Amino acid sequence: MQQQELLSLANEYSTPLYVYDANKIISQYARLTKAFSKVERFKIHYAVKALSNVSILKLMQKQGCGLDTVSIQEVQLGLHAGFDPKDIIYTPNGVSIQELEEVAQLGVQINIDNLSILEQFGAKHPTTPVCIRINPHVMAGGNANISVGHIDSKFGISIHQLPHLLRIIENTGMHINGIHMHTGSDILDVDVFLYAAEILFETAKHFKELDFIDFGSGFKVPYKKGDIETNVEEFGRKLTKRFLAFEKEYGRTLTLAFEPGKFLVSEAGYFLAKVNVVKQTTSTVFAGVDTGFNHLIRPMLYGAQHHIENISNPKGKERYYSVVGYICETDTFANNRRIQEIHEGDILCFKNAGAYCFSMASNYNSRLKPAEVLWKEGKGYLIRERETFDDILKNQVMVEI
Ligand SMILES: Cc1ncc(COP(=O)(O)O)c(C=O)c1O
Repeated sequence: MQQQELLSLANEYSTPLYVYDANKIISQYARLTKAFSKVERFKIHYAVKALSNVSILKLMQKQGCGLDTVSIQEVQLGLHAGFDPKDIIYTPNGVSIQELEEVAQLGVQINIDNLSILEQFGAKHPTTPVCIRINPHVMAGGNANISVGHIDSKFGISIHQLPHLLRIIENTGMHINGIHMHTGSDILDVDVFLYAAEILFETAKHFKELDFIDFGSGFKVPYKKGDIETNVEEFGRKLTKRFLAFEKEYGRTLTLAFEPGKFLVSEAGYFLAKVNVVKQTTSTVFAGVDTGFNHLIRPMLYGAQHHIENISNPKGKERYYSVVGYICETDTFANNRRIQEIHEGDILCFKNAGAYCFSMASNYNSRLKPAEVLWKEGKGYLIRERETFDDILKNQVMVEI
C-alpha cells in the first residue's frame, strides 16, 4: 500500500489503527496454490488464530480456502462467515472431550493430539472420522515459543507412541481419515519441512483409509528488506514430487493440505500509531506512541522485529530512536532503531502487522482495542469499530459488599 493511502486512513479512522491489504492476501494465496498446482487435490486451511475478523474469513472463503481452527469459538466464527463445516479442520490442544464432541457434531473435521482423548472419543464415536496430529520430533521454528514439534513439546502424539496409537484404533474400530503435523512457525529451511514430511509419510503407511495429509504450516515471511523467507516455489516443486510418489505407493489419491496463517496475512497488515511524545533522555531518544503491547504484543512476547516507518516524514533524515508504548511497564516496540526523523503528531507505520497482532490484542490498562480497516482497490472498508468505554464495562458486575 502507498504511504499516502495509509496516512489518509489514519486521518479518517484515527489511531491506533490496523489496516489490511486484501490484494496482498489474495496474491499470497495464489502464490501458494500455484506452487502446488501439480497436486490433484490441494487444500489450504487458513489458520484463523492469525487474524480472525469475519471479513478476512469471508475474503479467504472467496479464494477457495478452508479454515484451520483451534477453539470452538473459531469454528463458530467460521460458520458465521458462511463456511461449510466440511471445509473446517479443528486442531485444539488440551481441550475437553466435551468441546471436541460439540465441534464434531457440527460436522467439522476434528484432529486429536493425545492418546487419552483419542481413546475416549473413539470408544464413544467410532464412526466419526478423525485426523491424528503426529509429533515428528523435529526441532524447527524461529524461537522456542513457536517451535512445537520437538521432543519436549506438548503438541501431537509422538511417533514413538505409534504402537500404542494403532492399538487404540484397532480396539475402538475408529476411522482415521487424516494425519497431520505442525512443527512450528518461521521455519527457515525447506529441507526441515521435507525431513519432517518423510516422517509423516512413513507414519501414513500404517493407516489404510486416509483422505488427506496435512503438513501444518511454518512458512517464514520476510520482516524487512533482504530478510529470508521460505522459498515456496522450491518447496512446492520438491514436496509435490515426493507427494505424488507417495500417492502411487499408497495406492490412492490424497489431499495435500496446509494451514498457513502468517504466510497469508502477515505482510498484508499495517499498524498505524501516532507519536504522543518525543522524549530525549541522557541515553536515548524515545518516541512514545498512542498504543502499547496491549495492541501489538509480538515484540515483547517473542522479540519480533516489526519494521517501522515514519509515514508523516518519509524523506526525513534517519535518526536513532527507541519506540515505546504507553503501558505501565517495559513496553518496547523497537530499540535503537533508525527511523526517519520523528516529530510529535507523526504517524508511524508498523509493517507485517497482519498475523498475531490484532488477534492477540487485549484491554490491558483498560485501553480500548483499535479499529480495523480492509483495503481493496483504492477503498477502505471498516471491518471493526474502535471499542468504546461501554466495551470495557460490558460484562462487569459492580457489587458493593
Ligand atoms: C496447528 C497450527 N497450524 C497452523 C498454524 C499457523 O502457523 P503460521 O502462522 O506460522 O503459518 C499454527 C500456529 O501456531 C498452529 O499452531
